Amino acid sequence: MAGSDRPGQINPSILMRSTGDSRRRQAACYRLEGRVAFITGGGAGLGEATAIRLSEEGANVAVVDINGNEADRVAASIPGALSLQVDVTDGTAVERAIDATVQHFGKVDIIFNNAGIAGEQQALHEYTEENWRAVNALNGDGVFYVLKHGITAMLKSGGGSIINTSSTAALTAQLNISAYSYSKAGVTGITRSAAVEYAKQGIRVNAIAPTAVLTPMVEAFIETSEDPEGFRAERENWNPIPGWPVAEDVAAVVAFLASDDARWITGHTLPMDGGYVVR
Ligand SMILES: NC(=O)c1ccc[n+]([C@@H]2O[C@H](COP(=O)([O-])OP(=O)(O)OC[C@H]3O[C@@H](n4cnc5c(N)ncnc54)[C@H](O)[C@@H]3O)[C@@H](O)[C@H]2O)c1
Repeated sequence: MAGSDRPGQINPSILMRSTGDSRRRQAACYRLEGRVAFITGGGAGLGEATAIRLSEEGANVAVVDINGNEADRVAASIPGALSLQVDVTDGTAVERAIDATVQHFGKVDIIFNNAGIAGEQQALHEYTEENWRAVNALNGDGVFYVLKHGITAMLKSGGGSIINTSSTAALTAQLNISAYSYSKAGVTGITRSAAVEYAKQGIRVNAIAPTAVLTPMVEAFIETSEDPEGFRAERENWNPIPGWPVAEDVAAVVAFLASDDARWITGHTLPMDGGYVVR
């Protein structure tokens, strides 16, 4: 029997292997230990899945949503989470919410700037000003307010990672959602500028561009389309990878961009689209 295999003695190679294994597990599971994440639209869909994922990776989470009941529901399912009812189209309310998060957790390290709406589906020449303004108030102004006040907080605490939610609609032509395409292209643009503007201060800014995921927003979008069943069938093979991604697939990408594994990635809009934009 080899010396280190005797009962009561530890084989150093086994010790190294198991320490390595647990380090590897830790690296994968607790990449965000001690970080504080501020997640808008956290009460449903992509925001909800991401709030859960970032918490599972060790982050303290502020669930921010205009729907206070849904923010409470999601926060109640996450250990130590903070629920904040906020309309992000209101800049003062966003500033207060960032302050409340810093007051509660001490800082903000990660922002998932995600609340957004598709708006009503209308041909461009029939687009109402009301529809145009509602979409841009949230997907444009709201995104700006979260960046403005979030970056202010991050500059005080020494940096962070921001992930904005863009869309494949920013990168490809989509019909009857002009304000959505316009606003999401804006998200991609401000992501680039902010990334370069704050790179030296340790703030990374990226965006994700998901293809359609069956969240409450997309379910409502399908039901208000001209042919819901046709829409669903067409989407089964819309992307080169067949089928639909789930919100947890998006959450995993956000967790990566939030983590130090992505420390050299900034300014990009990362499609999460099964190959849709390159086909
Ligand atoms: N689901 C998709 O297929 C898809 C694809 C590409 C991009 N996106 C984008 O992802 C983001 C999230 O979409 P989702 O599908 O999870 O939507 P969702 O409607 O399922 O969830 C959005 C959440 O945002 C909240 N919200 C709405 N207005 C708000 C406001 N003014 N202030 C604060 N919170 C507000 C809602 O209450 C809801 O809880 C949006 O920006 C959307 O444009 C979604």
